Amino acid sequence: MNSPNLVNAAVFKKLTNHLQEAKKWSLSELFEKDPGRFPSMTLTAGGLFLDYSKNCLSGKTVELLVELAEECRLEQKRDDMFRGDKINTTEHRAVLHTALRAPRYEKVLVDGKNIIPEIHAVLDRMREFSEKIHSGEWKGFSGKKITDVVNIGIGGSDLGPRMATQALRHFHIKGLTVHFVANVDGHDLEAVLDKADPETTLFIVASKTFTTLETMLNAQSARSWFLNSGTIRDLSRHFVAISTNAAAVRKFGIPEDNMFPFWDWVGGRYSVWSAIGLPLVLAIGYNHFTEFLAGAYAMDVHFKNAPLASNMPVILGLVGIWNRNFLGYSSVSIAPYLQDLISFSNYLQQLEMESNGKQVRKNGEAVEYRTCPVIWGNVGTNGQHAYFQLLHQGTEIIPVDFITALQPHHTLPKHHAALLANCFAQSEALMVGKSAEKVRADLEAAGMSTAEIEVQTPQRMFPGNRPSNTILMNVLRPETLGALMALYEHKTFVQGAIWNVNSFDQWGVELGKLLAKTIENELEGDELAHHDSSTSGLIALAKASLKK
Ligand code: F6P
Repeated sequence: MNSPNLVNAAVFKKLTNHLQEAKKWSLSELFEKDPGRFPSMTLTAGGLFLDYSKNCLSGKTVELLVELAEECRLEQKRDDMFRGDKINTTEHRAVLHTALRAPRYEKVLVDGKNIIPEIHAVLDRMREFSEKIHSGEWKGFSGKKITDVVNIGIGGSDLGPRMATQALRHFHIKGLTVHFVANVDGHDLEAVLDKADPETTLFIVASKTFTTLETMLNAQSARSWFLNSGTIRDLSRHFVAISTNAAAVRKFGIPEDNMFPFWDWVGGRYSVWSAIGLPLVLAIGYNHFTEFLAGAYAMDVHFKNAPLASNMPVILGLVGIWNRNFLGYSSVSIAPYLQDLISFSNYLQQLEMESNGKQVRKNGEAVEYRTCPVIWGNVGTNGQHAYFQLLHQGTEIIPVDFITALQPHHTLPKHHAALLANCFAQSEALMVGKSAEKVRADLEAAGMSTAEIEVQTPQRMFPGNRPSNTILMNVLRPETLGALMALYEHKTFVQGAIWNVNSFDQWGVELGKLLAKTIENELEGDELAHHDSSTSGLIALAKASLKK
């Protein structure tokens, strides 16, 4: 059965009418009128706490949004995904990252075959391998212990493991440093190789397809660098691969025993839970990795079973739909008030924008509504001193997701209270704003002249009424990070289901790749293709400079 698209849903009209009322609301007044607003608009799941009360919505709005989710068949679509139906229709693939964190006793069928045993067989190999590296049983070619791991991968083969490895810094195993190289810009690899010792460095070549240009070039360069010191036979002590493409791995020269497989039903941006998580396993140890998987699994169980109105990923997704499709906000800022989540917004950019940055529905028809907003951000408090000016007083309204932990890992006095105070103050300031009357009164009290007050007041007033979510955890640990990432994965799923797009393909990245190949040939050879005058002009400048 086809689900209706957003604007054809019967409840869409009700939501549009309701919007006229909502546009008149002041968030501060909603709080004043309803002392129960905070408890009724907060949820707990997987060790996370979500406060969505600082959004411009009421209980009625949530009711209508849940009706929209029902009408868009969200529950059926969710069950189709968990069951292993081929919901990635353009690639004819199941979407089963959730199976990667399921316990051994579960059963998930793909083409009639239970995939859980093979998932756990790979996990077992990851455990054995990481233990050998940590204990020093696995040695480099000259007999020394491995001290550095370089993960070479890009997109989903980089962003998730890189972000999680940084986020779980406090769980790192001493004596082993994990580096990440993604960019085809040689400066990225060079910066790591400059400090690396070939005798004690292990390279992980992580690529689902094992054809991605950046990764293949970086891997070839790393191989050449290694062969300045070691021999071809030594490569097997220093190169392992993670891929679904065994033939290409073999062709590259990495033996089968050094390959950790995964499967076509794992999307790149959803792959950190698979062998793509190997750099994370090496950084934090296998036991902590299992806690990370368990955190995600707890969120999966919640997503599968909780009623829509109290289901955290569903509510996070629906609040986003309200902000995007009804209130018309075009971006979402991610503000983790945790330094260790420095790469969280980079990771979310791929997760949400590669998944839902689509303009046609699953049936190929153009959407008649906006899909994924722009996702961006940086850690607090740094962002406050960069772009929060625009969030408070700019002409765009940009909803913010504040994310923080109640407990720090460090023991420095005062810092954490200051961090939390800033986090809570920002969401309060965005919502409450500061009226012209209040600005005037403050300036009068400070003794400013009447003429100056008139000049200053409009500059210093804040409109307020700007929405945000706050996500709290007790402490940033493997299981809370796992739950947080799964929360956003499922939020992405919910929104994709409402927009009726295929959240699991990424054709939009193909054209640029193709054109880059043509231009690379032109830069290196004598043949020139036809381009617009700008592109041809730029190519000519580069050719002249590369020849020198
Ligand atoms: O940028 C497109 C993309 O296909 C992503 O979806 C993927 O995560 C990334 O490239 C890397 O792909 P691979 O793991 O196959 O090298």
